[in-house]
Amino acid sequence: MAVPSVHELILRRRSGRAIASDPVDRGTIETMLEAARWAPSSGNAQPWRFVVVDEQPALQEARNALKPGNKTWAASAPILLIICANPADDYDVNGQQLYLFDSGLAVQNLLLQGIHLGLVVHPMAGWDEDAMRQAIALPLPYRIMCVVAAGYPAPITVLSEELQKRETAVRSRKELAEIRYFNRWSS
Ligand SMILES: Cc1cc2nc3c(=O)[nH]c(=O)nc-3n(C[C@H](O)[C@H](O)[C@H](O)COP(=O)(O)O)c2cc1C
Repeated sequence: MAVPSVHELILRRRSGRAIASDPVDRGTIETMLEAARWAPSSGNAQPWRFVVVDEQPALQEARNALKPGNKTWAASAPILLIICANPADDYDVNGQQLYLFDSGLAVQNLLLQGIHLGLVVHPMAGWDEDAMRQAIALPLPYRIMCVVAAGYPAPITVLSEELQKRETAVRSRKELAEIRYFNRWSS
């Protein structure tokens, strides 16, 4: 029997950096958030919250809160999506802090839906915590899990030469044989 292939949307998803500053309407963003909210979560705890940053002055403040390496390309994005979660919404089983895991599942749904809608969507961990919290007026005990830059694709030439090289570099993953075991772990 032929081995089934991976869904093309999963293969097509990538973290692009060439993002046009053209606006993205809120309906499109809400569809991404709909996809995110249908993610599975431990105990159906749904620890995630989403802050859509698409208007000034919050947008500029959030852009300023990005680490310099991200600012160079992500500052053109018309939308920054800030995925937050409350550690108290954790439905934990073995001390794994599953609210972090749950949030990741929601972000992946969001990313895939964004790609499906023709957007560039790029998850980031590089931000200044205090500045980003202040930009979106995030109350405690919420924590920022991820910031996703989103927008329509721009020509790659909007990027610096160095980033163009990264953008066109061959994407790589560990071979399955390196990361997969059957039945028992083996070294
Ligand atoms: C949690 C997380 C944090 C990331 N942080 C950054 C970041 O701060 N800046 C950046 O350019 N890319 C960031 N990335 C993107 C990764 O570099 C990217 O997913 C990885 O290189 C694989 O490339 P691909 O997404 O195009 O398949 C992040 C991705 C994840 C999942």
